[in-house]
Amino acid sequence: MIKNLLLLFIITGLISSCNSGSNAKKKVKAVSDEISVLGALPLKVPVPDDNPISVEKRELGKLLFFDPILSGNKDVACATCHHPEYGFAESLEISIGVNGSGLGLSRAFNQPNDIPFVKRNSQTVVNSAFNGLTNGESNVGSQAPMFWDLRVKSLENQALEPIKALEEMRGHTYEQSDALDKVLSRLKQIAAYRQLFREAFGVENAITKENLGKAIASYERTLIGNNSRFDQYMRGNQSILSRNELDGLNLFLKDGCTKCHNGPMFSDFKTHVMGVADQEKLMIPDDGFEKRYAFRTPSLRNLRSTYPYMHNGKLKTLENVLEFYEDLSGGKIANSTIKPEQLDPLTGKLNVDFKDIPLIVEFLNSLNDENYDKSIPSNVPSNLMVGGNINLPKTHQK
Ligand code: HEC
Ligand code: HEC
Repeated sequence: MIKNLLLLFIITGLISSCNSGSNAKKKVKAVSDEISVLGALPLKVPVPDDNPISVEKRELGKLLFFDPILSGNKDVACATCHHPEYGFAESLEISIGVNGSGLGLSRAFNQPNDIPFVKRNSQTVVNSAFNGLTNGESNVGSQAPMFWDLRVKSLENQALEPIKALEEMRGHTYEQSDALDKVLSRLKQIAAYRQLFREAFGVENAITKENLGKAIASYERTLIGNNSRFDQYMRGNQSILSRNELDGLNLFLKDGCTKCHNGPMFSDFKTHVMGVADQEKLMIPDDGFEKRYAFRTPSLRNLRSTYPYMHNGKLKTLENVLEFYEDLSGGKIANSTIKPEQLDPLTGKLNVDFKDIPLIVEFLNSLNDENYDKSIPSNVPSNLMVGGNINLPKTHQK
């Protein structure tokens, strides 16, 4: 009798340990091998050889980023459209620069107004230091592709472009060809900038356009979110993603998304014709890269701050983007001027079912990492409004 009881204990013990074993196994959900086309972001940021990081450069760059002295009317800073409150992006469909006021959705043109909208949706500056990083051959640092049409290489060169653009920062104050010289001479008149540039670059008369770009780029390289839950998963923390997120990841792989959204940035940094509808706020339709309606694959990191989506902000939510892909899988093109033969052939690999949408959206949200420097300088050397004419309540300033 006692012997039988003992045996029973051993058997039930065995069964229960078996059960807990298989439960534990079930928790780690199998993810398709195709996951190797994706990757975690590196912990180290790529830096071009001729612009090593220094504290002085980074701090100078930060002041410049928030200082509207770089704009014609002294009312627009880089931060006006790339504000920390909005994840260094903005929430408008397409940007309002010169002759605007307010921040985020409340930003609007002052009246009267003769300045057009900026033709595209503002990208986030966060992680732009990783632009060009792919699983194959990478073009980072001085070769890093910038903008929705890849028209500029490197953060250093990119930083000078908005200063020259009429709608973004220049306005009617000076000609495009004079813009940089005018801005440099303004900076030279401010003693604090003379000193900060000297300290950052170690030479007299350091206020040059190259150094302006270098300082801003150095600050931008500190705006990094490389520790999303997805990154932690890829670095070996198998239990950090929920079952739904893992299901979403599998669907993301299976439905064809990684044909273009691949590598650690979830972008191939190539352009594709997707047939997004035109933005009706623009007088002339934006025909993108090589006038083919092609636009760069955007990173899918920090989508929480890059809404509204696509190059022209035409899609409000991630569900709307997924519905766009569901339509595209079924051969329906959102832009009636784009013929099926103009679409990128890779769109033919898409196979999105409406049932997949909530899970893919859950997975995409595991790519958010908002743990970057959101601090705002309390003053800028020009003594102009920090961040431009954005009417930001004082309580948000640090
Ligand atoms: C009026 C709004 C506005 C202002 C001001 C502005 N930007 Fe932008 N920024 C945009 C828009 C819109 C884009 C996308 C434009 C495009 O792709 O054609 C962009 C793109 C960028 C990118 C490229 C990101 C990527 O992934 O390719 C960087 C970096 C950037 N801006 C930094 C800056 C800096 C630095 C300044 C100040 C010198 C600045 N921006 C001023 C709206 C603005
Ligand atoms: C053929 C290449 C390609 C495929 C396949 C593809 N995308 Fe895209 N994706 C792009 C391009 C290019 C854009 C920008 C298009 C534009 O603005 O005109 C984009 C935009 C997006 C955006 C908007 C991001 C932002 O910040 O504005 C999201 C989200 C997105 N794609 C998710 C997905 C998902 C999910 C899938 C799979 C169902 C997918 N994509 C499949 C190329 C692709």
